[in-house]
Amino acid sequence: MNPEEISTELVRWDRREFLRRLDDVLRVYVTAMGYSPGLIGSRRGFVAGHAQRDDFRAVATIEPATGRLVGIGYGYHSGPGQWWHEQVRAGLDRPAARYWLSDCFELVELHVMPYAQGHGLGEAQLRALLDGVKATSVLLSTPEGDTRAWRLYRRLGFVDVLRNYLFPGDARPFGVLGRLLPFDSPPPSASA
Ligand SMILES: CC(C)(COP(=O)(O)OP(=O)(O)OC[C@H]1O[C@@H](n2cnc3c(N)ncnc32)[C@H](O)[C@@H]1OP(=O)(O)O)[C@@H](O)C(=O)NCCC(=O)NCCS
Repeated sequence: MNPEEISTELVRWDRREFLRRLDDVLRVYVTAMGYSPGLIGSRRGFVAGHAQRDDFRAVATIEPATGRLVGIGYGYHSGPGQWWHEQVRAGLDRPAARYWLSDCFELVELHVMPYAQGHGLGEAQLRALLDGVKATSVLLSTPEGDTRAWRLYRRLGFVDVLRNYLFPGDARPFGVLGRLLPFDSPPPSASA
C-alpha cells in the first residue's frame, strides 16, 4: 500500500486499550523488526506485564477508517528490579547510573509498519509518548547499525549511554541511548 494514500491518526492508549489490542501490537512489533511471527506467543506475557508498570503509557498510530494499527510506541518508569534496568545499570559506573537511571522513563518499543515508514510517523509517536513524562531522562536500547531508528534518535538528541552492549540471550550488540527530558517542542502533525 502506498502511504500517501492512507490517512492516520495518533492516539493515546490506556492500559486497557493496549491490552485489548495486544495481538495487533505484537504483529506490528514483529513485522517492523523483521522477526518471525512465531515470536508473538512467547512475547505476549512479557508485554502484557509491561502494561502494569508505573507510569505505563502508550501511543498508537491508526487508520481511522478501519481501526487498523499502523504504529505503536510504549514505555514506563524504569525501576530497580526490572530486568532491563538492572542490565543497563550493570554496564554503567556509579555516577553514570545515578545520572541516567535514578528517575528514568524506559522507551520500550517504537515501531511503524514498513509500508508507512519514512513519513514522520515514528517521530510523531516518540514525541507524543514522551510529552508530559515527569521523569528526568529517557533511555532505550536498539540494535547497532545504520538504521532508521538510529537516525531518528540522533535527530532528536539522544546520546550514547552504552555502545555495543550485549544483553543476555541476544547475540546482537545494542546501543543504549539516552536523553534528558522534557522535549522543548510540541508534537508535530501525525498525518502521513
Ligand atoms: C524506527 C521507526 C519507528 C521510525 O519510524 P518512521 O516513521 O520510519 O521514522 P521517522 O518518523 O523518523 O521518519 C523516517 C524518515 O522519514 C523522513 N520524514 C520525516 N517526516 C517526513 C515527512 N513529513 N515526509 C517525508 N519524509 C519524512 C525523515 O527525515 C526520516 O528520514 P531518514 O530515515 O532518511 O532519516 C521505524 O522506522 C521502524 O519501525 N523501524 C523498524 C523497527 C525499529 O527499528 N524500531 C526501533 C527499535 S528500538
